[in-house]
Amino acid sequence: MKKDNLKVVIAGGGSTYTPGIVQAMISSRGKFPFTSLTLYDIDESRNDDMYQIIDYMLEKESLTKEVSLTETTQPEVAFSEADFIFSQLRVGGMKMREVDEKIPMKYGLVGQETCGLGGFSYGLRSIKGLLEIVSYVEQYAPNAWLLNYTNPETLVSEAVRRAFPNVKMLNACDMTISIEETIATNYGYNRKNWIPVYYGLNHFGWYSSIYDKSVDRDILPEILERLEKERLHVADFNAGDDTWQEAWDMMRLMTKNFPGYLPNNYLEYYLYPNRTIEHTDPSYTRANIVMDGREKKTKEMARKIRAKEKGEILDFNFGEHGQYIMDMAASILNDQHDRFMLIVPNQGAIPNLRDDAMVEVPAYVGRSGAEPISLRFAINDFHKGLMEAQNAAEKLLVDAYFEHSYQKALQAFTLNQTVYSADPAKQILDDFIEANGNYWPELN
Ligand code: G6P
Ligand code: MN
Repeated sequence: MKKDNLKVVIAGGGSTYTPGIVQAMISSRGKFPFTSLTLYDIDESRNDDMYQIIDYMLEKESLTKEVSLTETTQPEVAFSEADFIFSQLRVGGMKMREVDEKIPMKYGLVGQETCGLGGFSYGLRSIKGLLEIVSYVEQYAPNAWLLNYTNPETLVSEAVRRAFPNVKMLNACDMTISIEETIATNYGYNRKNWIPVYYGLNHFGWYSSIYDKSVDRDILPEILERLEKERLHVADFNAGDDTWQEAWDMMRLMTKNFPGYLPNNYLEYYLYPNRTIEHTDPSYTRANIVMDGREKKTKEMARKIRAKEKGEILDFNFGEHGQYIMDMAASILNDQHDRFMLIVPNQGAIPNLRDDAMVEVPAYVGRSGAEPISLRFAINDFHKGLMEAQNAAEKLLVDAYFEHSYQKALQAFTLNQTVYSADPAKQILDDFIEANGNYWPELN
């Protein structure tokens, strides 16, 4: 593997998360010496907005000579000679996210981008898009590392596991570090001292301990105690974001009623669908908030740069998201064996769960990829039961994708933990088939 002059490709380059990743890449050049950055997207105009912003960032850092920046919609141009590919697709964009969120709500069910039936709708679109990217990587850059953040993570990583079992790929989600960072900044800890033990499916898991090296003990019990008494406020990177404030409040409710573990906030959609439905406006969902907020702001930055306006133009704070991706890439490159939460085939990591489930657990990351850490204890029946049902539903959905099976899709929709009856499951499935059109595989 090359150690310098790296070529990095961002697949889904037009995403509003791209500047955060590039910011982290720039500040990590010492341990991750890249000289070429390619933005690849099928949406030429969004990709070009991002190209303007990144070019501007490189210029401010006096890096335009050292880093060659490319934008392209051509897979061959993008992936040939690539060393690292960061994949963050959103197939169908925010418009389809809005559809995913709104259709289930019409039938009184949870409407969310990655959880519940919205997540399943997104999943069938995303699998198609990500398998395409993996096939390009196999064709044009078979030795490259693919670091994937494309949602819904368990579904897409399960599909890739089946179709391309040998691809050099890591699947990661930033939710656990966002949870850790939010707790650490609220309660005055430094999460860099933490060795957390966490298990689950993606957006569906629990912390069972958090060992803090600065005091040499498990501090999860005291964190849970503080959660009981003190509200958790949004961290800087989500400042002013009411959706996230609601999420942290729901997390406190979960720890109150199910003590002993710290749940991933996304479990609210499975444990308290009634409440999340109550506090969501069915005509103005998260997709609308993001389109009217982050998306508009980014477009405006690109406009100002094109118009050569003076003054402070860049305005974004993505917290640890970009740094997390960067640290993972550096850990591979330099064989650092740093520890990250990754989505991997279980293979005994959670001893009493089926081996072929895609689970999210801690893993060491080095030159040969991920080395997942076994929990070395059996998980309890409550968590196990929830995970097994969700995992079976997800497996059925991936079966539906590969087998073009309407029946398997209906089973998946019915088994989804946010669904109380096969009636809405079928109605929503039929609505989604129509709304997704060619984004979805044909189901017969
Ligand atoms: C977290 C999750 C991601 C998800 C994102 C949504 O970072 O880990 O999987 O996509 O939140 O954020 P947004 O601001 O787009 O609602
Ligand atoms: Mn995530």
